Amino acid sequence: MDSVHSVPVAAVEIRGAGYCYRAFVGSDLIEDIGKRVRKRLSRERCAIISDTNVGPLFASRVKRSLTSAGFKPTLITIPASEKSKTLEQASKICGQMTAAGLDRQSFVIGVGGGVIGDISGFVAAIYHRGIPHVQIPTTLLAMVDSSIGGKTGVDTRAGKNLIGAFHHPSVVIDDVDVLKTLPCREFNQGFAEIIKHAIIVDAKMFKQLQSWEARSARQPLALQQLICRNIKIKSKIVAKDERDRTGERAVLNFGHSVGHAIERAGNYRKFLHGEALSLGIVAACAVSIKRAGLAPGQRDAVIDLLQRFDLPTRLPKKFPREKIFKALKFDKKFDRGEIRFVVARRIGAACLSSDVTIEDIREAVDEL
Ligand SMILES: NC(=O)c1ccc[n+]([C@@H]2O[C@H](COP(=O)([O-])OP(=O)(O)OC[C@H]3O[C@@H](n4cnc5c(N)ncnc54)[C@H](O)[C@@H]3O)[C@@H](O)[C@H]2O)c1
Ligand SMILES: [Zn+2]
Repeated sequence: MDSVHSVPVAAVEIRGAGYCYRAFVGSDLIEDIGKRVRKRLSRERCAIISDTNVGPLFASRVKRSLTSAGFKPTLITIPASEKSKTLEQASKICGQMTAAGLDRQSFVIGVGGGVIGDISGFVAAIYHRGIPHVQIPTTLLAMVDSSIGGKTGVDTRAGKNLIGAFHHPSVVIDDVDVLKTLPCREFNQGFAEIIKHAIIVDAKMFKQLQSWEARSARQPLALQQLICRNIKIKSKIVAKDERDRTGERAVLNFGHSVGHAIERAGNYRKFLHGEALSLGIVAACAVSIKRAGLAPGQRDAVIDLLQRFDLPTRLPKKFPREKIFKALKFDKKFDRGEIRFVVARRIGAACLSSDVTIEDIREAVDEL
């Protein structure tokens, strides 16, 4: 820890084979971004990539801080929406970077939620065959999940994240103060990923979340501790299986097979990612009761906890369930007809199973 700020800054080291970077978590960090980046990057020119919601809130402060540390930043703002996460938009950004004179000696800073983290990371991965990337996540979901692990990418018409690259950031800076402007629904959806982390590996955090006070939900110290813990959880799992090949990283997909299908069935409008994940977690718990011996009482505790954060645990009555099954076929994990589904044996212990049938999943979705 260092203590430049009133709430001491915590640093989490993220290390694996061939990469090592730090995530700084604290309050009032935006003002110091320039200094922190300067310690890691001696380059001059950079592109700040942000969106139309986040840019007006924070980009000018980020730019000022970078300029005073001797950097030459160019701000590139894209429309705020998952719809911006495309190859066309990435290409447009690259064009703007070229026009601004950025070359292989420059770097990219993403200031925004997971959409900005993913597309700015992807641009950094391909621009001049790869330049450094700095992540400044501004949503809870991006802080605890998408900014960690090196997955970058864009969506195509055929599905989400189908084009991408592994490209770890040089540094991640999580200023918890930026979460003050995050709308409630967006804030709560971050808890779906946090609860997922608790279910797969951290029964103790699950217990702590059960007594999480709504009042202190945005309290900097509580948030800082929670974010650090979740960064550690995710980075530890990623380090075991960075390229998602051995199945160890796959536990992070708990709840996601059905969650992604629900997101798609709702045309990416009805539910936010974390909300669809919440429903996917409930379905995964039902499958886990049948195939992994999860105690029904633990499933009920999961549902209670999701509801505590105003996350949905039942599908609306009229939701087109058939669309969910159709969407499941598009899931990368269902390729070759082989189902590899993440189940929880108990809260705090999940694993990949090949015993799950499509009927089990259908039943679980019907129960939602
Ligand atoms: N790379 C990974 O490992 C990984 C993991 C999980 C999710 N993702 C990706 O992350 C994306 C979802 O991220 P998200 O939930 O952060 O969505 P998002 O980036 O769309 O942000 C949500 C909304 O909040 C706004 N916003 C962001 N920060 C704000 C702030 N501080 N104040 C006010 N408004 C703010 C944004 O403009 C946007 O409208 C998806 O594209 C998903 O595929 C990637
Ligand atoms: Zn997710």
